[in-house]
Amino acid sequence: MASKHQVTIITQDNESLSFECRPDEDVITAAVRQDIYLMSSCREGGCATCKGLCTEGDYILGKCSSQALPYEEEEAGEVLLCRCYPTTDIEVEVPYVYERISFSPEGLAFDAEVIELSNISINVVKFQLRRTGDDKTVKFDSGQFFDLEIPGTDITRSYSPANIANKEGDLEFLIRIVDGGKFSTYLKESVSVGQRLSVRGPSGVFGLKENGFTPRYFVAGGTGLAPILSMVRRMKEWEEPQKCIIYFGVNTETEIFYLNELDQLAAEMPTLKLRNCVWKYSDDWQYEKGSVVDILRRDLQETGAKPDLYLCGPPGMVDATFSVCAEIGIPKERIYLEKFLPSGS
Ligand SMILES: Cc1cc2nc3c(=O)[nH]c(=O)nc-3n(C[C@H](O)[C@H](O)[C@H](O)COP(=O)(O)OP(=O)(O)OC[C@H]3O[C@@H](n4cnc5c(N)ncnc54)[C@H](O)[C@@H]3O)c2cc1C
Ligand code: FES
Repeated sequence: MASKHQVTIITQDNESLSFECRPDEDVITAAVRQDIYLMSSCREGGCATCKGLCTEGDYILGKCSSQALPYEEEEAGEVLLCRCYPTTDIEVEVPYVYERISFSPEGLAFDAEVIELSNISINVVKFQLRRTGDDKTVKFDSGQFFDLEIPGTDITRSYSPANIANKEGDLEFLIRIVDGGKFSTYLKESVSVGQRLSVRGPSGVFGLKENGFTPRYFVAGGTGLAPILSMVRRMKEWEEPQKCIIYFGVNTETEIFYLNELDQLAAEMPTLKLRNCVWKYSDDWQYEKGSVVDILRRDLQETGAKPDLYLCGPPGMVDATFSVCAEIGIPKERIYLEKFLPSGS
């Protein structure tokens, strides 16, 4: 009979923890069985939240999305722990600190009430929740996301708040409505103000990184603006001195949203510039004309700037922007990204 194997997880702050994994279990399932909640979301190889680097031992990888784990990363020893079946003892480095690991399922779950649902563009809604209960604090690092459960089902989807951690319990989500999508249909047809949802998180490692006074360029495709806005609002709150630019791209003018919120932020933050980009623009469009990828390329070429880059949105846009940064010579280690991979496929 095949034997159990030992999994050792090494966190970014050099802490470690070990647990056993049965032959038929992936690493995330084995950890959950032993009340260890490593970072994960879809648990089906689609979202990349559970990514780590295997430095010791052998394993078999189950089916993963090539967007979540590209071939080069797989070749370099990166793994999705929800699809990783150890065949020997293994050691895996994860890109987050020990404190991010939870040891009870309740540690990460809470209920929240719907406060607002409003259309803010032709295909995007603002979905505002407030945590219920006596302790309303919502803690997260700007850039992280939460998993929201559709009431009465066990279907969850990941969404990144656009606001910052707060004691009032507020979570402000910006959600693109996808035709026929399960969460999208819930938002279009069944949601009501006052309804309660189960929320789980925070999760994810996308967020601000310390790199001295290096300027920060934020590139958002559509609702990819949400975690970017959270990060820039956080910079404002902390009065961080780095110069920054938000490149916000949509396809058509009817898809643009939050221009007032962005203008207000820029008015309060002298270090912030905005580039609102529309790809298929009309004569009336007064801001940047063209795709966010082209506008960014133009700026990087013209100024010769070598900022830190934060990219978020649809996988195609993130990949195209990443290529532009590589072309301009920005080191890979200074590009931080989150792809909004379809979390339910
Ligand atoms: C870490 C993370 C954070 C995210 N944060 C946000 C956020 O802040 N705002 C936001 O709007 N979305 C975000 N997403 C995407 C979100 O989780 C859902 O995947 C998306 O809202 C679709 O869910 P759905 O249930 O409506 O559609 P589903 O039922 O999941 O999908 C229905 C169909 O549409 C396809 N599909 C799903 N998403 C897309 C898409 N984006 N483009 C084209 N086709 C698609 C699916 O493949 C499927 O065929 C995030 C995803 C991840 C992984
Ligand atoms: S949790 Fe493993 S890929 Fe989503």
